Amino acid sequence: MQKMIVEGGHVLNGKVRISGAKNSAVALLPAAILADSEVTIEGLPQISDVYTLGDLLEEIGGNVRWNGQTVHIDPENMISMPLPNGKVKKLRASYYFMGAMLGKFGKAVIGLPGGCFLGPRPIDQHIKGFEALGAEVTNEQGAIYLRANELTGARIYLDVVSVGATINIMLAAVRAKGKTIIENAAKEPEIIDVATLLTNMGAKIKGVGTDVIRIEGVSSLHGCRHTIIPDRIEAGTYAIAAAAAGNEVILDNVIPQHLESLLAKLREMGVTVEDSDDQLYIASRDPLKSVDIKTLVYPGFPTDLQQPFTSLLTKARNTGVVTDTIYSARLKHIDELRRMNADIKVEGGSVIVTGPVQLEGARVKASDLRAGASLVIAGLMANGLTEITGLEHIDRGYENMTEKLNNLGANVWREDMSEEEIIQFQNS
Ligand code: EPU
Repeated sequence: MQKMIVEGGHVLNGKVRISGAKNSAVALLPAAILADSEVTIEGLPQISDVYTLGDLLEEIGGNVRWNGQTVHIDPENMISMPLPNGKVKKLRASYYFMGAMLGKFGKAVIGLPGGCFLGPRPIDQHIKGFEALGAEVTNEQGAIYLRANELTGARIYLDVVSVGATINIMLAAVRAKGKTIIENAAKEPEIIDVATLLTNMGAKIKGVGTDVIRIEGVSSLHGCRHTIIPDRIEAGTYAIAAAAAGNEVILDNVIPQHLESLLAKLREMGVTVEDSDDQLYIASRDPLKSVDIKTLVYPGFPTDLQQPFTSLLTKARNTGVVTDTIYSARLKHIDELRRMNADIKVEGGSVIVTGPVQLEGARVKASDLRAGASLVIAGLMANGLTEITGLEHIDRGYENMTEKLNNLGANVWREDMSEEEIIQFQNS
């Protein structure tokens, strides 16, 4: 088990290349199940969630060949193997095996998904969608059983705008008989990316990127080649790191339009942000002004950047209020930031950050992926050394974070934890 050590006070400068989008990748890989011939996906991020899904595709009989960031998935020998336990529980996105296997085989058994603890994360809207398409869905000993003699298109209104439910229903509906309409659908770029792959496989989908998606089911889908979109959350994380601890930083391989809500907030704080084609230039100058943020569904401010942004607010003048309307309990980073001398309190479900304060290095624990990113950013701003444990969360979603930060001039490294530290970590 390792910990990350961040030596604060080094100014970030230079260029960082953004990887493929994690939250697309974790849906694109299961989507390949739906094809009858080889699917090639290019530009995948080299993160543990991606490899876990690759292993799961092999478990159900897929032939999966990796070549760096490219994967070739031959689904010809896949079967509807039950996956009630094991790797399926390692990440939340394994729930996409439900829609994909239901669409392809008319049945699936999938253990209830794990992933980051962000408070309650129900999947009732996914199940509502599968049932509307004609599946029988039961929960037996912590696994979801789905069966359908035939899937038939339906009109489905999502009570909650959900990325996962929108994609999962799309995966099942592309091979259902007749027309499916998903109303109140989510509009995240990752949904468009998955729909692009499915369309290249022969699916008929209209309206992605709006809140009404129309799907005309087809009887079979074929293989194709697809290049993933860049990760807007990774890009956002480096943009925030640049604002927090940078001078002039260029983010390469981004779609700036995917980051409008964050970039508007950075500009409001006094950060210079310029975009050109697939690059963003971020220049930070002290002092920064505090702002309030409220997370919303896309194109609103993403919940996944709320925690990193909270760290940035500690160096801004005055008080900023952070409200997460998507995951109100996504607050596990707060106590850790306090350990680092941040002036933060939680009041009425919002986080109130008063700055500027000089953060101090401390021993802190990443309890989830984006909490980890927020602590790394705090460490870059802090005096002295910050030791971060819980790296398995960071590794699930950020490719080569240590190397990317060091290339920008940071001083970050990983060390094996002593036995005593491991015991302390496990008991904390
Ligand atoms: N919700 C329900 N019922 C459902 C589904 C969702 O009530 O059936 C609620 C959730 O509890 C939440 C809201 O709807 O309050 C939105 O959840 P959504 O389904 O959109 O989230 P998700 O699909 O499970 C994805 C990302 C998350 C990201 C959220 C919100 C993946 C694998 N995960 O989760 O990413 O926070 O959308 O944008 O795509 C991360 O990358 O760190 C991460 C957690």
